[in-house]
Amino acid sequence: MEIRRSSAPLGAEILNLDLSQPVSGGAFRAIEDLFHERGVIVFRGQQLTEEQQIGFSRRLGELEIHVATDYLRPDHPQILVVSNIAENGRVIGLADAGQYWHSDLSYVANPSRCSLLYALELPTENGKILGETLFASAAYAYDTLPAGTQSQLEGLRAIHRYADRYRKQQAAGGRGAISEEQLAKVPDVVHPVVRRHPITGRKTLFVNEGFTVEIERLPRSQSDALLAQLFAHITRPEFLYTHSWQPGDLLMWDNCLTQHRAVSNYAPPLRRLLHRTTVAGARFTVS
Ligand code: OGA
Ligand code: MN
Repeated sequence: MEIRRSSAPLGAEILNLDLSQPVSGGAFRAIEDLFHERGVIVFRGQQLTEEQQIGFSRRLGELEIHVATDYLRPDHPQILVVSNIAENGRVIGLADAGQYWHSDLSYVANPSRCSLLYALELPTENGKILGETLFASAAYAYDTLPAGTQSQLEGLRAIHRYADRYRKQQAAGGRGAISEEQLAKVPDVVHPVVRRHPITGRKTLFVNEGFTVEIERLPRSQSDALLAQLFAHITRPEFLYTHSWQPGDLLMWDNCLTQHRAVSNYAPPLRRLLHRTTVAGARFTVS
């Protein structure tokens, strides 16, 4: 396999590796090492069945079943459909695709280790593929904070909440109803603002625009101002990795080391269809 690192502080491309075939232990460890360093990896040119995507994802840990149960594949509930395609009067996936900065499942007690997204159909106009995904390094963001801000953040904790985000995206159009019973499965959770990566121990800024609503024990105005400052710092345009999708891409990202956002530059009748698997967080974490 051939590895190409991007020029940004995160992101790498792996070529000439066929994930429909068994990956050896040695190759898998090399992939994991690269992943922990770069936070985002794309495997180009894949052709995977649902079982094969699940099988490869499963080597990274147990898989989550997403709370938005209307958008799971019926035979494989480990697969969340990300799509703007309507069939029989119903959109078949999460249509907004996460068009706000976030990391997946930060709103659960044990946040996801990583997610894998496989491109099946991509919106294309005049030969150009649209619907890019932007990535930012939350570790690089921490490292580049002034020392005074780093120490100000020590010991702070923030509240993450799924329900507000779902309702916002619903109001913006494109997401169907979700029951109170479903939302009750994702109550508020609290995480440290500076989190150590569960595997490498590297410090990261673990607050995101998508799901982090408030820093505990600060007056609301101070919490709002600090969060806004941190969100802007994490997502400084000059440090982003922009993923330009190609058909057959399997993209994987670390949900502690990185944050991401889908770009909204296409609309039906342009079709976008991707399948996401989400790996659960490690049970054991380094301190
Ligand atoms: C996701 C996500 C981004 C995209 O599936 O978790 O944020 O561009 N997707 O589809
Ligand atoms: Mn996401």
